[in-house]
Amino acid sequence: MRTEQPKVIYLKDYQAPEYLIDETNLTFELYEDHTLVHAQLVMRRNPERGEGLPPLVLDGQQLELLSLALDDRALQPGDYQLDDSHLTLQPTAKQFTVDSTVRIHPESNTALEGLYKSGKMFCTQCEAEGFRKITYYLDRPDVMSSFTTTVSAEQHKYPVLLSNGNPVASGSEEGGRHWATWQDPFKKPAYLFALVAGDLWAVEDSFTTMSDREVALRIYVEPENIDKCQHAMDSLKKSMRWDEKVYGREYDLDIFMIVAVNDFNMGAMENKGLNIFNSSCVLAKAETATDAAHQRVEGVVAHEYFHNWSGNRVTCRDWFQLSLKEGFTVYRDAEFSADMNSRTVKRVEDVAFLRTNQFAEDAGPMAHPVRPDSFIEISNFYTLTVYEKGSEVVRMIHTLLGAEGFRKGSDLYFERHDGQAVTCDDFVKAMEDANGVDLTQFKRWYSQSGTPRLAVEEAFDAAAQTYTLTFRQSCPPTPGQKDKQPFVIPVEMGLLDKLGNPLPLRLQGEEHAHGSNRVLQVTEAEQSFTFVGLAEKPLPSLLRGFSAPVKLSFPYDRDQLMFLMQHDEDGFNRWEAGQQLSVQVLQEMIGQHQRGEQLVLDERLIAAFRTLLQDNALDQAMVAEMLSLPSEAYLTELSEEADVEAIHAAREFARQRIAETLHEPLWQRYQANREASRKTPYVAEAEQIARRSLQNIALSYLMLSGKQEVLAACLEQYESCDNMTERLTALAVLVNSQFESEKAKGLEMFADYFKDDPLVMDQWFSVQAGCTLPGGLERVQALMAHPAFTLKNPNKIRALIGAFANQNLVNFHRADGAGYRFLADQVITLNALNPQIASRLLGPLTRWRKYAPARQAQMRGELERILASGELSSDVYEVVSKSLA
Ligand code: TRP
Ligand code: ZN
Repeated sequence: MRTEQPKVIYLKDYQAPEYLIDETNLTFELYEDHTLVHAQLVMRRNPERGEGLPPLVLDGQQLELLSLALDDRALQPGDYQLDDSHLTLQPTAKQFTVDSTVRIHPESNTALEGLYKSGKMFCTQCEAEGFRKITYYLDRPDVMSSFTTTVSAEQHKYPVLLSNGNPVASGSEEGGRHWATWQDPFKKPAYLFALVAGDLWAVEDSFTTMSDREVALRIYVEPENIDKCQHAMDSLKKSMRWDEKVYGREYDLDIFMIVAVNDFNMGAMENKGLNIFNSSCVLAKAETATDAAHQRVEGVVAHEYFHNWSGNRVTCRDWFQLSLKEGFTVYRDAEFSADMNSRTVKRVEDVAFLRTNQFAEDAGPMAHPVRPDSFIEISNFYTLTVYEKGSEVVRMIHTLLGAEGFRKGSDLYFERHDGQAVTCDDFVKAMEDANGVDLTQFKRWYSQSGTPRLAVEEAFDAAAQTYTLTFRQSCPPTPGQKDKQPFVIPVEMGLLDKLGNPLPLRLQGEEHAHGSNRVLQVTEAEQSFTFVGLAEKPLPSLLRGFSAPVKLSFPYDRDQLMFLMQHDEDGFNRWEAGQQLSVQVLQEMIGQHQRGEQLVLDERLIAAFRTLLQDNALDQAMVAEMLSLPSEAYLTELSEEADVEAIHAAREFARQRIAETLHEPLWQRYQANREASRKTPYVAEAEQIARRSLQNIALSYLMLSGKQEVLAACLEQYESCDNMTERLTALAVLVNSQFESEKAKGLEMFADYFKDDPLVMDQWFSVQAGCTLPGGLERVQALMAHPAFTLKNPNKIRALIGAFANQNLVNFHRADGAGYRFLADQVITLNALNPQIASRLLGPLTRWRKYAPARQAQMRGELERILASGELSSDVYEVVSKSLA
């Protein structure tokens, strides 16, 4: 908890460390009621920082210091200073050794940072600043050391003892205890340290690297989960091969381990050679995990594996550079997933997510650049901006340099900086040097926050046969940044003729056309591009593949959008045209609702959807994506002032109309796909996933009819399917229906059957948390008393409270403010238990500026109540105070 005024840390104050730690030798003695940590640090003065010997200031929090020695000389309390986060002592030589012993309490660590217990096992989470809760250390990423770690524990309870690197020795002790020593040959910062002790089983495999070295692969889980590891293992081997092929990156230790833990604040952690995962990102089998969950496992396994190079071999100089590893690694895992599955579907999902959530963050009180300038609590900066927008920035570099140029740049980056802690500037410099280009202006993407607008106008000159596109970019003010400089915006585009055929693209001044798809670089506040040799006015397809994270506007009418939906050669932009059409139609209906008029759905949307349903050549996953209306959260993001009820009413009315009018084709596609599902056993591969996604969205429309035959089909799917993808959708549509007795029975059966599988119970909670029927808050409050729910497990909080506040907008924003009060109460409770989770849960309340004055006042009131509730963690304090500022 905060004891002093929270300190703001600035990038501009960065200084290299005064001292370095060459070697770190750790010994852990794990007991049920405490743990002893002995640390021997072999240190020296950092030659970069000059001659003298300033005091050595080690980080340390919640540690009980039992003994301290400098070069074998025991120090007495007068020889050093201690405060609640530092240990300061005075070295007397350039090289020296510090020995310390501390007592810590993993058994009562509910913050899940540092060393803690998840169920019966010990595990660690050190990123970003958790290592200081384990021992006194220079806990900063630019201090890189080689680690030797010995773990000792009771043999019977903790047969498996793991740490980073390779196992080098082990043995037993008296009194039923045993020990193991691990050595990591690669220097690393403390945030990559890991330790695990528990009664674990492992699935084992091996991988032969491109230079013919054999690597042992192990996934450790609690015994009851041993049958849920194969998908993660397959994903790991695919990731290892892909990184060799696409980036030339080979794995570097003899063993690679993943451990699944139930209590984890985030998705997973890339500790060197010993990744620790939230069990939700490892465990998957047909009966318990949906297609989406399988794909998430594949993506997260890849993400953490890819960090071995983008993060571990080359790490961050300081935490302001977080996107150096996270943005790059998200880009790498997204490309991997695109290669393993449908590229267009992956892009559609990622863009929808970015535009709904990252754009909202970038327009809110916590907006910050991809490389932030300052922070109070670094844990608050593991954000969508650093991860997802950071990935878009890397993608734009790829677009500007081309695949080959990008690879030259990444090769140079890894070669030049192997074993170093570097900055985002170093990354860009490698890209520049390898390609002989200047990315100075491009780097504004790292320093300027906010989502740029890009307004586009067209002008056709029939006599001259020219077509001019004029781009105007601007960027709204964000906290601490009033005026922005123009960005470099790569706009991938094409032009279509009257029949929908691609036109050759020749810019004024060019000798000949350069294909029918190209990238324009918009670098000025206002800039025009003139295409020549066009006899007829073309229709532009702009920002193909979402080539830049901007809000593009072009005055398309609805007929043009329908035309693009059918004819654009870019699959992403076909989906995008459908989204824009839906948005236009829904916004018109939102207006009707606000004026108290009868809602009328533009029949053109129905016609477009009918065409999609009849197109048997289209990838079924794309049909499913295109049939999905923009979410209420996205419509909120697009609104100047969001009208919760009008958005919900318009979208529900549209869904109802679509369901009625397209009943026949939906029913046909549903039945054909369900039939195929019945015939083929479940596999988590692209074609089946596509089929199920269309089947499931069809079912969710059909169920709106309230027809008995649909209910019967839904129950058949629920009871007879062989996988969670079909079962959970059937349950979800039942829960959102008016069939009260079937709903109750379905929920009960499900909970009864899966009560001992926490990851499945998370899904059961989420489905109910997301139900938009009246009474949502009361249902969530009742579920908090369910025996499977606990505030101590972050997955449960996300599944129930997080899903409610983020996805059930009508219920969370109910007019009396009870949803806000409920969320604030949870934040206040969690602030003391788990500050990182408390702070993340605050997200929906920080968006208060989006709503009408009455709701604004209620939301602000709750933020103020949190601020006044007592001693706040720095995590919660930073988000609440910035939101109110
Ligand atoms: N580096 C991790 C990742 O990207 C992120 C992470 C895992 C993390 N656990 C954390 C960040 C706890 C902060 C706190 O995959
Ligand atoms: Zn990461």
